[in-house]
Amino acid sequence: MGYGLLKGKRGIIFGALDENSIAWKTAERVHEEGGSFVLTNAPIAMRMGTISQLAEKTGANVIPADATSLEDLEKLISESVEVLGGKIDFVLHSIGMSVNVRKGRVYSDQKYDWTAKGWDVSAGSFHKVMQVLYKQDAMNEWGSIVALSYIAAQRVFPDYNDMADNKAFLESIARSFGYFFGRDKNVRVNTISQSPTPTTAGKGVKGFNGFILYAEKMSPLGNASALDCANYTVSLFSDLTRKVTLQNLFHDGGFSNMGVSDAVMQAFEEQQNP
Ligand SMILES: NC(=O)c1ccc[n+]([C@@H]2O[C@H](COP(=O)([O-])OP(=O)(O)OC[C@H]3O[C@@H](n4cnc5c(N)ncnc54)[C@H](O)[C@@H]3O)[C@@H](O)[C@H]2O)c1
Repeated sequence: MGYGLLKGKRGIIFGALDENSIAWKTAERVHEEGGSFVLTNAPIAMRMGTISQLAEKTGANVIPADATSLEDLEKLISESVEVLGGKIDFVLHSIGMSVNVRKGRVYSDQKYDWTAKGWDVSAGSFHKVMQVLYKQDAMNEWGSIVALSYIAAQRVFPDYNDMADNKAFLESIARSFGYFFGRDKNVRVNTISQSPTPTTAGKGVKGFNGFILYAEKMSPLGNASALDCANYTVSLFSDLTRKVTLQNLFHDGGFSNMGVSDAVMQAFEEQQNP
């Protein structure tokens, strides 16, 4: 059931690949809250995915765009303003990919053209999306832009590989561009640092099953699900959070402030005294 939090608001949602995607759940929740939006993904992902089902369910238009292509983004954003009937109030950047992770190259043995590609898709694209929105003056005043991050930007998670550096860069872009967007257009920009979540991107990280269970045991509230993340994102798109900007917001059941938990201690004690 919705609260009408996004009634009359227009947006663009990047990154709904399948029903497990955080962007997919967000699109469903935004729809329930009365928002209208354009769904977009890389043309190649659309051929594999089921985005048209989501579009039908939510009354959205689908406009393909490779988020690393300025030309695609320019077209996406101008067409979105046209089909939605006005400027944009919210944008979700839910995009991530590392070629090194995909191909099993560890952090200490990166192939640098893959590193560059992963950076462009996962972090550079966020700058590009905002630069096009900014130059086209496509955002409404008091609009909200959100990208998704992970705590490996601050702490070491070895198997998260070069995505850790991409997320650190992404969070920095949110702050740096957020300044200009705030100063000039009263638009806020934030990243949400989300719990490990079983999606295509998440499950692609080596050792994912181990660290999702570990995070669950470490977090006093347990891991945040994709739906929880969608709800939090809705709150950041709503008028209830107008003065929140330049933040990396941990949405992780408390994981980021934990040292150790009883549940984790117990697992080690059991190992020692079976
Ligand atoms: N799953 C997790 O554990 C987790 C945790 C924290 C943060 N995140 C972040 O959440 C975001 C969404 O990921 P997800 O977990 O929903 O996985 P997902 O695989 O469902 O979504 C990733 C999306 O990125 C899209 N994408 C890749 N290259 C692109 C390009 N060139 N242009 C446009 N789109 C492109 C993919 O098509 C896909 O839709 C990512 O930024 C991810 O790093 C995920």
